[in-house]
Amino acid sequence: MKKHKIGIIGFGGAGIALFQHFERFSDCSVTSVLDIKETAFERARFYLPSIFTTYSLTEFLNSGIDIVVVTSPDNTHADYIADSLSAGKHVLCEKPLTDSIEGIRKILDAIARHPGQVVGVQHQMRCLPVHTEIHNIVRQGQLGKIGYIEGYYVHNLTKRAFEYDEWRLRDNATPLIYSGIHFVDLLRWIMKDEVVEVCGMANNICFPEYPESDLNVILLKFRSGVIGKVVTAFGAGRPQDHTVQIYGDQRSIFNNMLFEKDGGFKIFARPKKNTLPGRKQAFIKDLAITGFSNMFEKLMKIYPYNAQYNIGFYPIRLYEHYLAVNQSAKNFLDAVNGEAKLQCTALDAARSVAVALAGVEAYRTGATVQVKKYWPKELGQL
Ligand SMILES: NC(=O)c1ccc[n+]([C@@H]2O[C@H](COP(=O)([O-])OP(=O)(O)OC[C@H]3O[C@@H](n4cnc5c(N)ncnc54)[C@H](O)[C@@H]3O)[C@@H](O)[C@H]2O)c1
Repeated sequence: MKKHKIGIIGFGGAGIALFQHFERFSDCSVTSVLDIKETAFERARFYLPSIFTTYSLTEFLNSGIDIVVVTSPDNTHADYIADSLSAGKHVLCEKPLTDSIEGIRKILDAIARHPGQVVGVQHQMRCLPVHTEIHNIVRQGQLGKIGYIEGYYVHNLTKRAFEYDEWRLRDNATPLIYSGIHFVDLLRWIMKDEVVEVCGMANNICFPEYPESDLNVILLKFRSGVIGKVVTAFGAGRPQDHTVQIYGDQRSIFNNMLFEKDGGFKIFARPKKNTLPGRKQAFIKDLAITGFSNMFEKLMKIYPYNAQYNIGFYPIRLYEHYLAVNQSAKNFLDAVNGEAKLQCTALDAARSVAVALAGVEAYRTGATVQVKKYWPKELGQL
């Protein structure tokens, strides 16, 4: 008998992904799905014929589950979190935690009334080995004084955006709130600092079918004076790019490379052999990438580099999606079991939402926007 029974709300792309992870953990099983479409139930039964499916939230919450995983559209998260907490469940919610100030207030109020239940947020970018290492290097002060940090969420969504549902169209899901928030959150987490001011621009050229804009670029001013940049692009004709770059006065980071002033470099994260269950194909591919990148690194060390023309790119798959989602989901389960601290709390995720909301106003109006406008007092002092 498994320890935890999980119900998933919204069985589209993110719901399927989290279903697969939770089904592979030894101490839980997914037993229920709530959705608004029969096609979602058919998908769920394809994976697990015996799964309980329903359109009714009451039936869902009474179906014997103790954990709710919220993978429905962004603007539904707040109500589902509040209702699940009232019903005594632990909750894991997909990012963004919500898409409005009202949503933030509703969620934090519900959490305050149910302090014994765990509410985690799937900001899995924090769980990637390369990002954990960047976080450690910055915390140890290895970069010296930091002036600049940037992150790229470049993911061609022209096929994926409307595959299971058209909520991105219905709800005008801006790239920044829906995806760029990954890097708003990552940059805040790495810097351990808050953003106070945002300006930005957007256009709708490369993927005009996407509502309002498919490219958002925002500049962030942190409390410390550090300048940040987040680029979110859904229509770029290229593979995914999740670059992180940081400039310090002693050392700088470009993805998994730590640069010295004289042009020397150190690789601090290497491609991982993916040994997660059910990933045989990926394992074989990863072996080849690992071999190639090791050879590349050795050549770059032999070749006499200089400060001007240095190694510019190290072959690593920057965003190991499966690994990141797995680690993040496992961290939530460990927190429910009282064995770990949450990687990303709802309060912290809410602060990322506030910055992203300021960013949306900034690129829509062309004005520089103060984050405090979107910072309800429940988020603490800014
Ligand atoms: N962490 C990540 O990297 C990541 C990746 C993708 C999506 N997400 C997030 O996951 C959530 C879902 O995105 P997706 O890509 O899976 O969307 P999707 O369009 O693939 O699937 C959405 C599912 O929700 C259902 N749905 C729609 N309205 C609903 C409602 N009111 N109640 C219950 N179900 C409803 C749809 O029928 C569909 O099955 C969003 O919040 C999104 O931002 C996170």
